[in-house]
Amino acid sequence: MSTLKDKFQELDERNREASLGGGKEKIEKQHNGGKLTARERLELLLDEGSFMETDKMMKHRCTDFGMEKNKISGDGVVSGYGKIDGRLVFVFAQDFTVFGGTLSRANADKIVKVMEMAIKMGAPLIGLNDSGGARIQEGVQSLAGYADIFHLNVKASGVIPQISSILGPCAGGAVYSPALTDFIIMTKQSSYMFVTGPEVIKTVTHENVTKEELGGAMTHNSKSGVAHLIGDDDEHSMMMVRELIGFLPSNNMEDPPVRHATDDINREDENLQSLVPADPNKPYDIMTIIESVVDDHNFYEIMPHYAKNMITGFARMDGKSVGIVANQPAFLAGVLDINSSVKAARFVRFCDAFNIPLITLLDVPGFLPGTNQEFGGIIKHGAKLLYAFSEATVPKVTLITRKAYGGAYCVMASKHIGADVNLAYPTAEIAVMGPEGAVNIIFRNKISDEDKATAIEDYREKFANPYKAAELGYIDEVIYPRETRKKLILALEMSQNKSVSRPPRKHGNIPL
Ligand code: HXC
Repeated sequence: MSTLKDKFQELDERNREASLGGGKEKIEKQHNGGKLTARERLELLLDEGSFMETDKMMKHRCTDFGMEKNKISGDGVVSGYGKIDGRLVFVFAQDFTVFGGTLSRANADKIVKVMEMAIKMGAPLIGLNDSGGARIQEGVQSLAGYADIFHLNVKASGVIPQISSILGPCAGGAVYSPALTDFIIMTKQSSYMFVTGPEVIKTVTHENVTKEELGGAMTHNSKSGVAHLIGDDDEHSMMMVRELIGFLPSNNMEDPPVRHATDDINREDENLQSLVPADPNKPYDIMTIIESVVDDHNFYEIMPHYAKNMITGFARMDGKSVGIVANQPAFLAGVLDINSSVKAARFVRFCDAFNIPLITLLDVPGFLPGTNQEFGGIIKHGAKLLYAFSEATVPKVTLITRKAYGGAYCVMASKHIGADVNLAYPTAEIAVMGPEGAVNIIFRNKISDEDKATAIEDYREKFANPYKAAELGYIDEVIYPRETRKKLILALEMSQNKSVSRPPRKHGNIPL
């Protein structure tokens, strides 16, 4: 009969074996490729000593291709729960050292278990992806595992925050789990995502493309808009996830966490008084306003490399999380186009789902004209942004710094689509269109060039200012730029207990 000591020894042995994953050689290979192991990543991600592992001893049940002789405890994924800054999160980390981190039925069962727990307990789900995809030996069982995960990703959407970190391969249908989550962070050089790889592309379309060009971190952050952030390496990516989680509530029934704020809410910034140039055609950097007004000048930008004419990101105002959406006049004059509309719409919907108030900064000359945009469906993509702002019931505070022309005025959180507080700088120009365009249409072929110049000046005087809108109550207050922080915080404070009721419906039909 085995003694107590023997029993503990057996547990030690089993734990040690499971912790080693695919073994020393495979770990070394992982390190040589500039990657950390699943367990090392979790150590960086979670508060020290907080990780509780589930299903460490689970093994696959495959008996084809001699797999019954090749079983490793854990089966290619490390899963469980732990804490970030003391707050509960659920995690799974694919372990590339075990069967290439591929998804077997058992491996999927482990992921499904933490996903179901995350939904039940109301805590964020973080997936660390590094996998060769479906485990070929398991055939349709692996596909079933993926589909179960996709189904749960959708069930969890808008209920708990879901974050995907891509730290290695993520190819084929496997990409659709991260794609269904709220944020994707890709690591430079070591990560890639694609539905079909370079070899298949070469055969089908005869295009030559490298893995990095096709689906590397920069491709998805700057070209496709699939990913939201880039980490320099595994450690940096884990730190980015930790920081992001700090802005978010644990679930849709909670408010975001409040940090003790030391930044004075009445802090003024004299530099803002002269930031927006008197000449409406001169660009300036809207980021200066954002960084000036948020707590400790700390702005966490989302999708910084994509559609740079629109800025999105998180910050805190008096310790409370806010989502910021801003036209960027320093890039394409801050024009609204397909990519910037979709980028902002998705961000607005995330904030609304998770009770994060929205601050919208406007300096937008309108929608980008051109056949590219029209054929690409700017009508339906612009409508997404209009839909997202209109449907959002979180507190919405809007500040017009300069141009707010045409449809773009309506779309960007105007009073008419439910903003709670609408502010403007004295430099604001709120009208159907810019003075030149307006005069060209009203007086087409009817006046001389000289009179035209006078008419443009007249129009500018009359309409290119915030006072018409203020007279009508569409702007609540024209503010001094130096007071921006204070005014925004007062507006957010006023609207923090906002409640809005909507007619019952299954769900709306956002123009996809
Ligand atoms: C089973 C796999 C595997 C897979 C890799 N391995 N992919 N085992 N099924 N899909 C195993 C390898 O045999 C190897 O085992 C170990 O994982 C590490 O793989 P390597 O090839 O040595 O590593 P590396 O050179 O870094 O290349 C990684 C890779 C390559 C680029 C991911 O392995 C690869 O191309 N794999 C196939 C990818 C693929 O086609 N997956 C199916 C996609 S379709 P040993 O024992 O030698 O260490 C899909 C459908 C999902 O996923 C559908 C959802 C709806």
